[in-house]
Amino acid sequence: MEPKGKVAVISGGASGIGLATAQLLASHGARLVLVDLQQELGEQVAAELQAQGVDAAFLQADVTKRGDVQEMLDFAVRRMGRVDICFNNAGISEAGEDFLAPESRRWERTLEVNLKGVLLATQLEVELLRKQGGGGVIVNTASMGGLVPMPNSPIYAASKAGVIHFSRSLAYLADEGIRVNAICPSYTDTPLVRSQGEEAVRRVSAEVGGILHPEQIAEGVLELVRDESRAGAVMRVTVARGIDYAFERQRGG
Ligand SMILES: NC(=O)c1ccc[n+]([C@@H]2O[C@H](COP(=O)([O-])OP(=O)(O)OC[C@H]3O[C@@H](n4cnc5c(N)ncnc54)[C@H](O)[C@@H]3O)[C@@H](O)[C@H]2O)c1
Repeated sequence: MEPKGKVAVISGGASGIGLATAQLLASHGARLVLVDLQQELGEQVAAELQAQGVDAAFLQADVTKRGDVQEMLDFAVRRMGRVDICFNNAGISEAGEDFLAPESRRWERTLEVNLKGVLLATQLEVELLRKQGGGGVIVNTASMGGLVPMPNSPIYAASKAGVIHFSRSLAYLADEGIRVNAICPSYTDTPLVRSQGEEAVRRVSAEVGGILHPEQIAEGVLELVRDESRAGAVMRVTVARGIDYAFERQRGG
């Protein structure tokens, strides 16, 4: 699908990978609905895009809440008339919490945002895309941490593995013109990563061979939006290999 004139809904659109993807899709003529918990930042980003002539709107919403996710889509339809591209990208990290410590609680929120948030959005998006007719593209943000073990963040890894397997399992929707794909960025320079401190950035960058820029992930999302041949695909974006795909066989068997 060519983004020109299409409506893209981007969760986590106020920051990092979501923001870079919003900017890239806008430069290819997409109209944007940005969704995020961060209201002030989101409104500022939307205003900046509007000042550049982009048709953009912002809605504060929490992707873990069904009512908010439904409102995200209703708002997009009210404001833009329809939805064509859904980038389910909002996510959080475990932020260094030890899951095995008895007081550990953040893991529940990590699962809720990273996995439930994607499942919920996809469910409601498919319902809308079916109702609209004319197909659509859903890209879910997973992570390389969903493909390789993350001893320091097992819940993050589990949430992202869930996103990968979920997205692959919906490849069959391509039969009705709805493509569901997952993207797996390696370590990427965003506020999420920067919040873990300079030492962590240096250490992890060294472990994984460098750090990506959010614009490189945005290029991957654009490829998944455009490439009509892929459904249920799992794109990797890494420093060593750039863009490639994790599984040859996208559908069962
Ligand atoms: N940065 C990395 O190294 C990296 C690597 C692989 C995958 N990812 C994934 O990429 C996605 C984007 O992360 P990023 O690195 O750009 O981080 P980021 O913190 O810059 O952006 C994430 C955005 O999601 C928003 N958000 C968080 N919880 C939300 C909720 N419940 N409802 C709505 N919005 C919410 C945040 O406010 C933030 O603006 C995440 O899913 C993350 O797990 C990041």
